[in-house]
Amino acid sequence: MKKEPISICIAGAGSTYTPGIIQAMLNVKDMFPVAEIRLYDISEAKNHRTFVIVDYLLRKAGKSIRILETTDPKIAFENVDYIFSQIRVGGLEMREKDEKIPLEFGLVGQETCGVGGFAYGMRTMPQFLELVGQCLTYAPNAWILNYTNPETIISEAVRRAYPKAKIINACDMAISISKTLADIYGYDHDAWIPDYYGLNHFGWFTGIYDKEHDRDILPDVLKRAQEEGVWLKEGDDSWKETYVNLGRMISYFPDSIPNNYLEYYLMGDEKVAKADKTYTRANYVMDGRNQYMDHFYQAILDGDSDNLKTYTMENEIHGQYIIDIAVSLHQDLNKRFNLIVPNHGAIENLRADAVVEVPAYVGAKGVEAIRRGAPICDFHKGLMEAQVASEKLWVDAFFEQSYLKALQAITLNQTVPSMLVAKKVLDALIEANRDYWPELS
Ligand code: G6P
Ligand code: MN
Repeated sequence: MKKEPISICIAGAGSTYTPGIIQAMLNVKDMFPVAEIRLYDISEAKNHRTFVIVDYLLRKAGKSIRILETTDPKIAFENVDYIFSQIRVGGLEMREKDEKIPLEFGLVGQETCGVGGFAYGMRTMPQFLELVGQCLTYAPNAWILNYTNPETIISEAVRRAYPKAKIINACDMAISISKTLADIYGYDHDAWIPDYYGLNHFGWFTGIYDKEHDRDILPDVLKRAQEEGVWLKEGDDSWKETYVNLGRMISYFPDSIPNNYLEYYLMGDEKVAKADKTYTRANYVMDGRNQYMDHFYQAILDGDSDNLKTYTMENEIHGQYIIDIAVSLHQDLNKRFNLIVPNHGAIENLRADAVVEVPAYVGAKGVEAIRRGAPICDFHKGLMEAQVASEKLWVDAFFEQSYLKALQAITLNQTVPSMLVAKKVLDALIEANRDYWPELS
């Protein structure tokens, strides 16, 4: 076991998810012996809010870990061992626009799917590539553990610009789904070895080997889902609706378990019809998690000990998953995770240069994707191929600063019905993202 003290940086530390990552880290201090945490964000105010909360959590846990806050990339990255990245370019204010502008055109408005995800991707690519460049300059040996969305677009851009970067791209959605299903139907999730494939936020479980039952129990889970539906025990209304829709997708296509984000592609018309155009998920998050952070921060500043007892940042799956990956990498445990990687034959009948999300082992050498060993079905393949092409065109549009490629990408996106609306929404997104996007011509 590696015991030498390590130093980490969290980039985009102002995120509401940062305390959860730290909390998960503290629970595995032996396996991941962090001695220094550097909080880095371009927003000094958001970074400071996190600093105060993390400082409080560390004191409460009685851990002597050095922490610092900075807006300077050199101070943030120099010689660190791991960089956890979760930047949100434009903040929740721009997320709100990603969600609301498409809705004005009768299109799905979502932060990572459809044209909203494209808008977010175009904002993020330049800044994320700059960040990777800085990591390579100041900490060439560090691993970057990346949660930054929209992940397929970001991974594709990094693969093109920095093919040798030591980066692991992860998403907690697939494991959140399998955990939820295990929980509601009474299985032990730790006994599950799921088979999953797709693109990020665009995939399917096609098998669940259960070690306790010694067989694939996916048919049983699909049967339960059809008979009883799918639900979320705890959570806010929009996540609850999402899980109900996951069950509805299974009832239409009862051969696999879809990623919930496919609701935006397979039932986008209903999503648009039901959407509140004045109050989207971004508003939920601003009024929920973001305010929770503000209040927690204020209670610490006020030294309000009664009030403080009510705040917890106990680990949720988001923080736990990325820390589990970090531990497997650091201690060479070769554990299995779903990760976002260049295809290179992992899915044999999908183009090799797609960026896919598949099971992979994580050890000291990094990520080793598992070859699926069987072709995927035409329904999933057709959906994925259109999505891959559309996302690749969008990344082309960024590198070539091409309006034509951008318009092709949006027209091809399966949430968009015609070139007519594609052009209108593209022009509106260009206008709204003037401060962030490269100029497309
Ligand atoms: C899941 C996804 C993330 C996404 C998040 C949004 O965790 O995997 O990629 O950012 O959900 O959650 P929120 O509560 O911010 O809508
Ligand atoms: Mn995700």
